[in-house]
Amino acid sequence: MTSYKIAPSILAADYANFESELKRIEASGSEYVHIDIMDGHFVPNISFGADVVASMRPHSKLVFDCHLMVSNPEAHIESFARAGADIMTIHVEATPHIHGALQKIKAAGMKAGVVLNPGTPVASIAHVLNLVDQVLVMTVNPGFGGQAFIPEMQDKIAEIVRLREEKGLTFDIEVDGGIDDKTIALTRDAGANVFVAGSYVFKGDVTERVTTLKEALNG
Ligand code: DX5
Ligand code: ZN
Repeated sequence: MTSYKIAPSILAADYANFESELKRIEASGSEYVHIDIMDGHFVPNISFGADVVASMRPHSKLVFDCHLMVSNPEAHIESFARAGADIMTIHVEATPHIHGALQKIKAAGMKAGVVLNPGTPVASIAHVLNLVDQVLVMTVNPGFGGQAFIPEMQDKIAEIVRLREEKGLTFDIEVDGGIDDKTIALTRDAGANVFVAGSYVFKGDVTERVTTLKEALNG
C-alpha cells in the first residue's frame, strides 16, 4: 500500500511565530513540514535561510522537507545539513552540476530530492533518478503561494511513475503548488504520494484542513 504524506508549507504560516506554527502542524497529524527557501535570484522573493531552519529545529520532530528555490544550491548543502534538514530538494534548473550536487547532499547525511519547474521536461532528471529519495513536481511556477494548480502536470507525474518502474527505483513523488481538497486526488491518481499544501492548510483550522486532505486521499 502506498503511504501518503502531507507536508504543510510553512511559507503560508505566521513568520513571527514559527514555534507555535510548528506545533500546529505537528498536532494536525502531518508527517512533514515543507520549508521553502527563496533567494530573490532563482525566484523573485526572499524567504528565509539555514539559520532560521536551525532555530526551528529544536521545536519540532517533524521531517524537515527543505525546498531550495536558490541559484547555486551546492553552496548551501553544508549549512542545511548543520541546520538539521532531513530532506534537501534542489532545482535541476538551478545548477549545471545536478548529479554532483545530489551526491553531496547524500554525503552530508540528508535525503536528496530533485525538483522540476512546470516547463522542465522529465528527461532532464532521467540520469539522476538513481540518486534521489524524492522527485518534486512543481504544480505551479515556483516563488509564490496561493497560485492555481496546473493540470498538465498530471501527465508529467505519470511519466515519472513509468520511468521509476522501468528503472526499478522506489523514490517518493511529491507535488507542490495549488494543492487543495480537490486537486490532491488528481495528483494521487497520477501517482504522487507526498503532498505540499500552503494556503489551503493555513487559510483555515490547520488540523481540520489536514484531516480533509487525508480524507480526500483515502476517499
Ligand atoms: C511555491 C512554494 C510552495 C508554496 C505552495 O513556490 O514552493 O511550497 O508554499 O503554496 P500553495 O499551496 O499556496 O500553492
Ligand atoms: Zn515548495
